[in-house]
Amino acid sequence: MNSGLWPKVGTTIPQSFTTQPTLWNTNSSISLCPLIQPQPDIGFFFVYRVPLNDLSRVPSIVKDHILEDVSTIITSGHFLKGPFTSALEENLSRRHAGASVTCVGNGTDALYLALASIGVGPGAQVATVANAGGYTSGATLRLGARPVMVDVDMTTAQMSVSSLEMALHMHPDIKAVVVTHLYGLVGEIEPISDLCSLRGVPLVEDCAQSFGAVVNGRPAGTFGDIATFSFYPTKNLGAFGDAGAVITSDVSLASRAASLAQYGWSHRYSVDLRNGTNSRIDEIQAAILLRLVPFLDNENRTRRNIVLAYHEALRGERRMIHSPDSSFVGHLAVLLTDSRDTDRSTLESSGVATGIHYPVIDTDQKAWEGYIDSTDLPATRHVQDRILTLPCFPGMTNGEIEHVVNALHGLV
Ligand SMILES: Cc1ncc(COP(=O)(O)O)c(C=O)c1O
Repeated sequence: MNSGLWPKVGTTIPQSFTTQPTLWNTNSSISLCPLIQPQPDIGFFFVYRVPLNDLSRVPSIVKDHILEDVSTIITSGHFLKGPFTSALEENLSRRHAGASVTCVGNGTDALYLALASIGVGPGAQVATVANAGGYTSGATLRLGARPVMVDVDMTTAQMSVSSLEMALHMHPDIKAVVVTHLYGLVGEIEPISDLCSLRGVPLVEDCAQSFGAVVNGRPAGTFGDIATFSFYPTKNLGAFGDAGAVITSDVSLASRAASLAQYGWSHRYSVDLRNGTNSRIDEIQAAILLRLVPFLDNENRTRRNIVLAYHEALRGERRMIHSPDSSFVGHLAVLLTDSRDTDRSTLESSGVATGIHYPVIDTDQKAWEGYIDSTDLPATRHVQDRILTLPCFPGMTNGEIEHVVNALHGLV
């Protein structure tokens, strides 16, 4: 038997995985995804594969409630802008210091609507980072504006305050700054917010990956002028389809965002704002999110504990991008390693799925060549070559977590 492919057993999993009230049955000691792997010398044998994520693990109690809600919605015939959407918006508002909430179609639209509400349009410049999946660049370009790339901090992969300061100095007409709380980690949001206020530049927080993160008692999404959220299924608060939200405590931004999300109407069939679109959450997704939101804080703790367990298992210069406190909600478990290719193949052959978020930085995207303003981005490129995403989701079993921890112990 090729014992090298099997993890050592016996790692102790922190209490927090098993004692907190949870939706998930995490006590199972084996992975749910067995794979049959052909081996030329010994024929076939099973390797338990830990997936990066598994969205099909919906606890049956939640599934039953959702099915009841769907039935209620179908019977009512009220599919958009109904009571479930209002209830979700109220819930999200309570979580964000009473801010106005407009639930929309997805997180990319949320970015577009936030930028359009601020007045970003053709020829304007928007400061952002190049390693956050391109969503902000896409929304900026859709408005005819240009992204200006700001370098990141080499240890956190988040926007660097000094690079932002330099960008604002070099491009004094920057119309907005978008800071993405990447991987669920809120970086230097307070100094960034202070800097933007000082320069009079509106700040957008992209909270697609950081729902529920809290810094010094303040939720992510309440530091800037306006914040955007995605409820894409893999997000910490994930729908069973697409959805998103725009949140702001600025009354005029809130009213513009709500109008732009509904064709730019001030009232039915009367268009007052030019960049309007159709971006609405549907009642079924709103009902699903309402059923899931009560579990979010617990799940965020579980995610954070998983990443901490990985961090503690690492040797040498390797580290997980994380924080042990509530400024991190473990959206993605991202390892920083100088030997990514070797580590990746070792982990994959031990049955641990891996990914790269994200494989191409915005400045290297073919379609955007010539449309993005950037200087050298040495820290972004340094991080880019070293990131490796590991499995992390609240429905992971203790056995799966242990399997990954043991595989990490095995990295040389
Ligand atoms: C950081 C970030 N911003 C924006 C988005 C866009 O959200 P959506 O997929 O809902 O359009 C995503 C993810 O999908 C994201 O990860």
